[in-house]
Amino acid sequence: MKKKVYIGMSADLVHHGHLNIIKEARKLGELTIGLLTDKAIASYKRLPYMAYEQRKIIVENIKGVKKVVIQSTLDYVPNLLKYKPDFVIHGDDWKHGPQKETRQRVIDTLKKLNGKLIEIPYTKGISSSMLNKSISEIGTTPEIRKKRLRRLIESKPIVRILEAHSGLSGIICEKISVEINDIKHEFDGMWSSSLTDSTLRGKPDIEAVDVTSRLQSLNDILECTTKPIIYDGDTGGRPEHLAFTVRTLERLGISAIIIEDKTGLKKNSLFGTSVKQTQDSIENFCHKIKMAHNSKVTEDFMIIARIESLILKNGLNDAIKRAKAYIEAGADGIMIHSKEKKTDEILEFCSMYKKIPNKKTLIAVPTSYNSIYESELAEAGINVVIYANHMLRSSYPAMLDTAKKILLHERSKEANEKLMPVKEILELIPGTK
Ligand code: SPV
Ligand code: MG
Repeated sequence: MKKKVYIGMSADLVHHGHLNIIKEARKLGELTIGLLTDKAIASYKRLPYMAYEQRKIIVENIKGVKKVVIQSTLDYVPNLLKYKPDFVIHGDDWKHGPQKETRQRVIDTLKKLNGKLIEIPYTKGISSSMLNKSISEIGTTPEIRKKRLRRLIESKPIVRILEAHSGLSGIICEKISVEINDIKHEFDGMWSSSLTDSTLRGKPDIEAVDVTSRLQSLNDILECTTKPIIYDGDTGGRPEHLAFTVRTLERLGISAIIIEDKTGLKKNSLFGTSVKQTQDSIENFCHKIKMAHNSKVTEDFMIIARIESLILKNGLNDAIKRAKAYIEAGADGIMIHSKEKKTDEILEFCSMYKKIPNKKTLIAVPTSYNSIYESELAEAGINVVIYANHMLRSSYPAMLDTAKKILLHERSKEANEKLMPVKEILELIPGTK
């Protein structure tokens, strides 16, 4: 009987290194590929470019692949116990980095099954991360970008969004990463905030910056990034106008619009009840949601209803009642806002929300209750966390400090220490030279 050979693969950016492993594997017997799901991949690295079904077509058509099966965790053990392969083949690059424990579990399990792990020397000069980099240099399409938010929500315990108000802040969000326990952490997408987009233009956050102007900042961000974008649509304006905003955003490849259930002259939520703010009636706001819902062209684009009951001290019951009604009206998700420093209120809402039968994506904006960790938010049922204003709030004090130092010293030498070197700024944006 032919020996059984197993390879676990993402098969997103397939290169000759992968094909070399497959070539070696098929010499040993009948080859099964365990194709990792989006969720399994997102548990240790960037979400793949291609969806599972697309990746499956690729793998099925590689010479020597007998069967493709689903591998729904990074951990191979469940599939190894199910398929009992004689050999598992993998590149030797997983001895270090995020997969080293996965590797050990493969070795231990194979020992019990009388199987063997065979490691193929890593092909020099090519890697998926290199291809990843080239792909982000090429850019993306509106379709791919738009769909990505839903895919991320489906694949990650919590999706991490950072405010971007300009091309430059967008580039930071696109590129910055840190490593924690060998796993690369990065932001999943961007938030186009009405507060920071207005502030940047020296205007108050009262819907005074019109949609056309907001689109200018969006365009700058779209041009130099590939990650998904959530748009702060304020109150959405008149329902008839909102219909056009939805169409425009969707065409550009924005993934979602969040509209808040306030009416009249909009004031920023973080004022709470210290300024006059009026919550819209459930009936009116549901009408708005329906208009927005009917205007979107694809299911990929999300209409998120933002509930201001906690901001306006209208209570948790009102918030939950609204959540149910808004979802019923066609909202693809709920954003619940709170300006309490403590997390009790938001967590209480989350536990009530969990019980709603038709619940959808839940988004939180922990600006005031900033001590909460992402893992705690995820545990409470939050699917998306938005850091809504942090890039602008960090840049302003830095600029202020520089301006003051120049004034105080009547020269710029003293300010220089905290500045980015001229050489660096010249090299920051590709093509400057
Ligand atoms: C924004 O970022 O503009 C928001 C969130 O709407 S908040 O400022 O907290 O209201
Ligand atoms: Mg806003």
